[in-house]
Amino acid sequence: MSAELFDLSGKVAMVTGGSRGLGEVAAMALAKAGADVAVCGRKIPDLERVSGAIKTLGRRSGAFVLEVTSKASVLKGVKRILQELGKVDILVNNAGINHRVPVLEYPEETWDLVLATNLKGYFLVAQAVVPQMIERGYGKVINMSSILGTVGLPNQLAYACSKGGVDQMTKVMAIEWAKKGVRVNAVGPTYFETELVTQIRNDPERFNFINERTPMGRWGYPHELEGIVIFLAAPASDFITGQTIYIDGGWTIW
Ligand SMILES: NC(=O)c1ccc[n+]([C@@H]2O[C@H](COP(=O)([O-])OP(=O)(O)OC[C@H]3O[C@@H](n4cnc5c(N)ncnc54)[C@H](OP(=O)(O)O)[C@@H]3O)[C@@H](O)[C@H]2O)c1
Repeated sequence: MSAELFDLSGKVAMVTGGSRGLGEVAAMALAKAGADVAVCGRKIPDLERVSGAIKTLGRRSGAFVLEVTSKASVLKGVKRILQELGKVDILVNNAGINHRVPVLEYPEETWDLVLATNLKGYFLVAQAVVPQMIERGYGKVINMSSILGTVGLPNQLAYACSKGGVDQMTKVMAIEWAKKGVRVNAVGPTYFETELVTQIRNDPERFNFINERTPMGRWGYPHELEGIVIFLAAPASDFITGQTIYIDGGWTIW
């Protein structure tokens, strides 16, 4: 009985930014739990590496080029996924970027790019994918947020605004689709070692600040994301919607 609660056999998942980092972790976790996975991003060799690893688990998978800031690219990518894998039951909106600059120096074009990727991109992909979930009366959307959606830190202007927006987007989508069978939740990680945070990882002062600021005294290990992604994708979380769940070693509790 309890295994069925976390079983994703027969489900099809789609992960944006699945070519590396936390998106790769999410894609592999969903595949290990039984789902077929569409791996989406911009660089075919990276996408094919992850997609190939998923196939070795015996799941169906494909590498799909999908630039989240472009509606045309999103529609084209989603169309291909539906043609090749038949449906999408689980959407992980994960593609994201950051640019760390003080507010007074923050370039307007960088603001636009971060918001277009981290916020508008989630909306464009959801708008393309969710209608076929509603048709079947069941779906799961997982939006990758951050602790920066609720706490402020210097040099994180557009990123923090985008993640605060993701948390609000999650609530609005959850309410609109609550009676249509589509659950929408967000995951709010603290710092995990990926390309996105290499600059901070290599700065001893920043690295230690994060360790000291975190009640559990350390960064997250990528595999620690797996459980929450499977949980939010699986029947075990069917009565949970509109929530942001922090995976942060306690950062946001004080
Ligand atoms: N790492 C952390 O500590 C941390 C903490 C909190 C939240 N997060 C969130 O977790 C998510 C993943 O972060 P990460 O650390 O795994 O970053 P990452 O290693 O830099 O990976 C980012 C992924 O997003 C894709 N991507 C970026 N811009 C895109 C675009 N315009 N269209 C399509 N794909 C695009 C990248 O693909 P390309 O190869 O094509 O660039 C890559 O697959 C982000 O939303 C981030 O905000 C991360």
